[in-house]
Amino acid sequence: MQKEPYLKHTITIFLLGLAVIVLLNSCNSSKKEDKASSETEIQTLTKSPPKVPEADLPRYMAEGKKVYKQVCLTCHQANGGGVSGLNPPLAQSDNVLGDKNRMLEIIIKGSEAGLEDNRSEYANVMQGFGMLGDEEIANVASYIRNSFGNKAEPITVEEVTSFRSANKK
Ligand code: HEC
Repeated sequence: MQKEPYLKHTITIFLLGLAVIVLLNSCNSSKKEDKASSETEIQTLTKSPPKVPEADLPRYMAEGKKVYKQVCLTCHQANGGGVSGLNPPLAQSDNVLGDKNRMLEIIIKGSEAGLEDNRSEYANVMQGFGMLGDEEIANVASYIRNSFGNKAEPITVEEVTSFRSANKK
């Protein structure tokens, strides 16, 4: 008979201890969850790519190809090789790969036979394509700078817009 209260106590203490362990454990695991969710938040924040012209190249290439096919291909050909004696190649051309404004000038204002650098051998005249929109020009300019083996920084719509406003007549 004497032993019973002892047994009760032991059981109560045991149960209390168990409850404390369970409580501590649940606190711990909820802390872990908090940490994990804040980690994923940081990851999504730092994942967005930087905004540089190169990032837009795939779009310029897809849209620029359409303009090129419609407007430029008859003279400069699908491979950018031009037509001997008539239209110059765009592949490996300084006017394509070099100064952006020089190329924009040729595309927007055109060029008569005899681009300074020994081009008088091309009998055709290139009319200006100023009737194209800023976006179309940026697309086709970026396209020819990155096709036919060419590789140069794309030309942005903003660059076309500012070239135009600086060269208004
Ligand atoms: C009617 C034929 C014709 C069409 C269409 C044409 N071009 Fe030209 N392009 C020429 C000729 C000819 C020249 C060389 C002009 C010169 O000798 O002054 C030239 C020169 C150029 C040059 C300079 C090349 C260099 O190496 O000096 C670029 C860049 C160019 N064209 C881009 C374009 C683009 C982009 C289009 C379409 C929007 C286009 N051209 C449409 C005939 C054409």
